[in-house]
Amino acid sequence: MKDTHLSLSQKRSNNIFILGIETSCDETSIGIVKNNQLLVNLIASQEKIHTCFGGIVPELASRAHLEKIIPIFNTATKTAGILPEQIDAIGVTNTPGLKGSLMVGVAFANGLGYSLKKPVYNVNHLSAHLAACYFDSSIQFPALGLVISGGHTSLFLLHSHTDMKLIGKTRDDACGEVFDKVGRMMNLPFPGGAYIEKLAQKGNEKRIKFPKAYIKDSLDFSFSGIKTAVYYYISKHGAENPADIAASFQKTMTDSILAKINDAIDLYPVKNFLFGGGVIRNSYMRNRITGHLARRNVRAIIPEPSLCADNGGKIAIFTRYLILSGAKPSPYRISVVPTQ
Ligand code: KG4
Ligand code: ZN
Repeated sequence: MKDTHLSLSQKRSNNIFILGIETSCDETSIGIVKNNQLLVNLIASQEKIHTCFGGIVPELASRAHLEKIIPIFNTATKTAGILPEQIDAIGVTNTPGLKGSLMVGVAFANGLGYSLKKPVYNVNHLSAHLAACYFDSSIQFPALGLVISGGHTSLFLLHSHTDMKLIGKTRDDACGEVFDKVGRMMNLPFPGGAYIEKLAQKGNEKRIKFPKAYIKDSLDFSFSGIKTAVYYYISKHGAENPADIAASFQKTMTDSILAKINDAIDLYPVKNFLFGGGVIRNSYMRNRITGHLARRNVRAIIPEPSLCADNGGKIAIFTRYLILSGAKPSPYRISVVPTQ
């Protein structure tokens, strides 16, 4: 193990191919980077499998990962134009996520690494969401980073690409979870986030005033109040004006996130603010956040939409920075830390 690590450090100045594997939830994905360049990023979404259940069914998720992972690996190496032996290192999400789903990716990564004699690095899924920004090589540290996904709303202070300190999180529902729950209240397919955004385009965001959640003297978030307010609105008025409900809800969520972004910049006056997670695919949010930060002289770094949600490309680029920071690979042990 030590030898593979050493040879990789020595190779720093040359071309390094890194494979990133992501199976923590309902996307089976493999990405390959050559240094800082993304060669391929294949994502097999399980949305069709889970949508009729209105949520992710863990057993079905791990079975689908098992079926997809080898074909995706074969296609990824072919598309990147490399042989498996040319892979220098492998990164894999081993926390947080669904236990069975994580196991599939981690077992595959370790089997592959062991047989190819290449090092395997365990990657934290949340850190990797922000690493989707690392294809931009002009990031200035310290920076702030916000992950808004289906499972997390987590605010980080970054001292380097790999040194991240959690400084705020949601005290109740995650941002994407609220989008999905409101989507369910409005009878939209699961996951509801993208459907709400589409509906909101035709709506009047000023029509309904939902209360904005705000926790004082803390960088923590809270969204359950907004969710409950939408629930009461629909219970009382029905969903006869769905576009206005969607637009007003989306605006309130964005206002509430912007309020915390302001607090974070007041406390940590950084020049760069990184974003990641499925919710930041939302173009209304992207535009408002970018504009707001620009007025505060902070650059918003938001990955292109395909890199925001769960994908292997962000695992691969984060692994690159782990290696550059001198991190040690894992000793070919299948070890996962699922979401509790
Ligand atoms: O990062 P991600 O793919 O998976 C997790 O790690 O959770 O995020 C999935 C979440 C879902 O809650 C989904 O509804 C939300 O991202 N999402 C959106 C949009 N696209 C995906 N939320 C709001 N607007 C969108 N356009
Ligand atoms: Zn995610």
